[in-house]
Amino acid sequence: MAGTRAIGLDIGTSAVRAAQLAYTKKDVVLEKFGQVPLPEGAVRDGEVVDPAPVVAALRELWRSERFSSKKVVLGVANHRVVVREVELPHIPPADLQAALPFQVQEMLPMPVDTAVLDFHPVEEFAGAAGQAMLRGLLVAASREMVLANVRCVEAAGLTTTSVDLTSFAVLRSLGRRMDVDVRAEALVDVGAQVTNIVVHAAGVPRFVRILLRGGQEVTDAVAEHLGIDTADAEVLKHSASLDGVGDEGLVGDDVTRAVADGAQALIDELRGSLDYYSSTHPSEPVDRVVVSGGGALLHGFADRLSQATRLPVVTGDPLAALRTGRVGMDLVTLDRLSPSTAVPVGLALGAVR
Ligand SMILES: Nc1ncnc2c1ncn2[C@@H]1O[C@H](COP(=O)(O)OP(=O)(O)OP(=O)(O)O)[C@@H](O)[C@H]1O
Ligand SMILES: [Mg+2]
Repeated sequence: MAGTRAIGLDIGTSAVRAAQLAYTKKDVVLEKFGQVPLPEGAVRDGEVVDPAPVVAALRELWRSERFSSKKVVLGVANHRVVVREVELPHIPPADLQAALPFQVQEMLPMPVDTAVLDFHPVEEFAGAAGQAMLRGLLVAASREMVLANVRCVEAAGLTTTSVDLTSFAVLRSLGRRMDVDVRAEALVDVGAQVTNIVVHAAGVPRFVRILLRGGQEVTDAVAEHLGIDTADAEVLKHSASLDGVGDEGLVGDDVTRAVADGAQALIDELRGSLDYYSSTHPSEPVDRVVVSGGGALLHGFADRLSQATRLPVVTGDPLAALRTGRVGMDLVTLDRLSPSTAVPVGLALGAVR
């Protein structure tokens, strides 16, 4: 793999961002990382709804960062992607892709010929009659949605070499260094409108859920409670905290209340998802939660999630296992942006592994 390069591209709600990785004989280097903000409404709930500003942002990103190639791995996560744990008769890996549509058509909420399918085996087991079976995660994405995102990338002069679920990208960048005493770990990447949850054991995904919630809800709650616009609410939110602790008196109780209100539904859904995982996987309980994404930067978020789930919650560092090259930004800026690198870095890791 030495000498290989790959670029992961994340079209997020708040920005397009890309990371270029290079594999050397010794390590993996983050060679470039950049992002260009998107105007509100261009991407909604993980889908490109207004291509023109996204295309313009992608062009600007490639102009300013001078990536070594125009080939990218693209991430997707929205309500038109479903991930289910399924059990299939054992199929040799070489035949799996061709057999998949016939095996899973009854399991999907969409017609099988409108979906792009992928299967991630988790374990082999014996069925009731002793027959060989395979348990794993089935990913089904609306072909139309995937193609719309790919067309947008191509309109910017780039080529999509593969499309991957952003949850798996988060797993690659944050799930590689699990401590031995952790049986299963939940990775939670909180964006503006999309939150990816992936529970894994030693890097193998067990459970994936995509929530259409994120930091935007908190901003909207502040804007609504205080009767201010979202740009002002966003600034206030950055100084605020969920529990009123650590905001150094910069914001009033009304802001703290609005922030807590806005974050409640997300916290509840995260707890509900992890409860569901626990009840369906009693032998591999989650011992730790790792958060990433801009939405997890909200002061007090990790503590509140820890209280709600009664689990330790730590903040993940997607760049910890990489060597940082001359990324083209100062280290303070890179450090500030690092929570948002989990997806593009993980997409690029998937291309070279
Ligand atoms: N310092 C901060 N404090 C609180 N919230 C923050 C901070 N910085 C960013 N955010 C929030 O993080 C969210 C954006 O996170 P991120 O950049 O990971 O999302 P995205 O990838 O653009 O969107 P999505 O994944 O939902 O498509 C926004 O809601 C923003 O308000
Ligand atoms: Mg995101």
